[in-house]
Amino acid sequence: MPIEAAKQWNSESSSDVLVLAVPSDWKSSSSVAEVDSKTSGWLGKLLESDEISTKPNKTASLLAPPGLSVRLLVLVGIGDIQGYDPSTAYRAAGSAAKVVGGKQRQRVTFLGFVGEENTKKAAVMGAINGFQGQDLFRKEKSLFQPESTLWIDISPEAIQDASTIAHCMLEMRRLVNLPPNILDPIAFVNEATELCKDLPIEIEVWDEPRLRAERCGAMLAVGQGSEKAPRLMILRYRGTQKTPPVALVGKGVTFDSGGLSIKPTDSMLTMKMDMAGAATVLAIVKAAAQLKLEQPILGIVGLVENMISGNCMKLGDVIKSRNGKTIEMHNTDAEGRMVLADLLDVAVENAPQCIVDFATLTGACLVALGTEINGMMGNNTELESSLRKAADQTGELVWPLPMHRFFSEQIAGKVGDLKNVGEGRWGGAITAAKFLEEFVGTTPWIHFDIAGPAFLESSKPWQDLGATATLVRTTIEWLRSRRT
Ligand code: BES
Ligand code: MN
Ligand code: ZN
Repeated sequence: MPIEAAKQWNSESSSDVLVLAVPSDWKSSSSVAEVDSKTSGWLGKLLESDEISTKPNKTASLLAPPGLSVRLLVLVGIGDIQGYDPSTAYRAAGSAAKVVGGKQRQRVTFLGFVGEENTKKAAVMGAINGFQGQDLFRKEKSLFQPESTLWIDISPEAIQDASTIAHCMLEMRRLVNLPPNILDPIAFVNEATELCKDLPIEIEVWDEPRLRAERCGAMLAVGQGSEKAPRLMILRYRGTQKTPPVALVGKGVTFDSGGLSIKPTDSMLTMKMDMAGAATVLAIVKAAAQLKLEQPILGIVGLVENMISGNCMKLGDVIKSRNGKTIEMHNTDAEGRMVLADLLDVAVENAPQCIVDFATLTGACLVALGTEINGMMGNNTELESSLRKAADQTGELVWPLPMHRFFSEQIAGKVGDLKNVGEGRWGGAITAAKFLEEFVGTTPWIHFDIAGPAFLESSKPWQDLGATATLVRTTIEWLRSRRT
């Protein structure tokens, strides 16, 4: 899908749709003024009538606007210009795209998406994601990417950059949205290998014998109840800097039934998304390679299915993890941390500068922060603040939870070194992170619990339901900020 940039809007150049961003104080917008003058005051009169909302993400579709060579004018509110930031931009452009994309379009022009470069990029990425539906297996699609888009007053470099990242997001969203009967661990490896071909990304895959040889006992325990073989996948991007890599670690549970501690139907229904962490890592490594980032990256993902069978893990099992710590299995639904325990140990062994992990780890994080904010926990305040700064640049939401040492008492084991859950439900996102901390040693580390934002249970105005690709944009921004 070609995306073009132009300095100025040319009302004569034809497009089937013109999208115009309209702030509440629309009289101050030069783009609104331009369209108003081309329509001989028609747009101004419409807005004056107060029938059209300029609140963020509200859209109005106007057929055959006078004086314009477009079939459809779509106005999208961006609200108070003071509050117009990357997050508003992403959502507003996505909302317009989702309305426009309801039909196949040849050319869509976007006008009035103002702001700093990062805000403009957010709009482009929001639109590309807004045009994308999750109805992978439906004959009748509900959303269509347009054949081409034209962005006014955004630099070609910004467009190129945003488009590269957004397309990696689309690819990863597809993987997360694929059903668990299709996307099992091996299918993930195949898809990921295909997505990375022709790029400077070295791939290493550990099969079962290798996982056993590498003593990945915790990850193997999670997979042992499934007919589907587990895989550990390493993605290496060497970058251009001669520094140790940043390690990115992702939870890739292709389906989480809960195991013997089985989930009720409603909670199990969306558990194909439990590999979103692994898909996040894949998207970031791929975008980094395409953007030729300087920072070397080591991506490590653990792919496994959490199922029930005569051979599945049982409550009371004592399992030896890769770093030698033994873990009592108290709840087979707390499987993500078991997988991550071994992945983090593999990461540590590679002596990275730091580790960032992504995991749909706990429902408790959703209780604490809701569906739109990623939980952030770790052992290093500098790393934390650099990631928060990057998130501010992209408009994605992250919030720290307190890693107080008294939470560790809750995961101390009686028969083994650790148990895989805390005492009761309280502080469940933190006890999970405290468990992970046992496997990172002194390496600076941040854990993102993306259980809420990774997947939309129902559609938003700016995006179809399903996977969101949360934190891909932020992590790319952060990797760039680490240039030395
Ligand atoms: N994959 C789930 C967490 C999850 C819940 C992700 C809801 C997305 C939406 C995870 O493996 C899990 O089941 N966690 C348990 C932990 C508990 C048993 C300590 C949970 O959150 O209930
Ligand atoms: Mn689980
Ligand atoms: Zn899980």
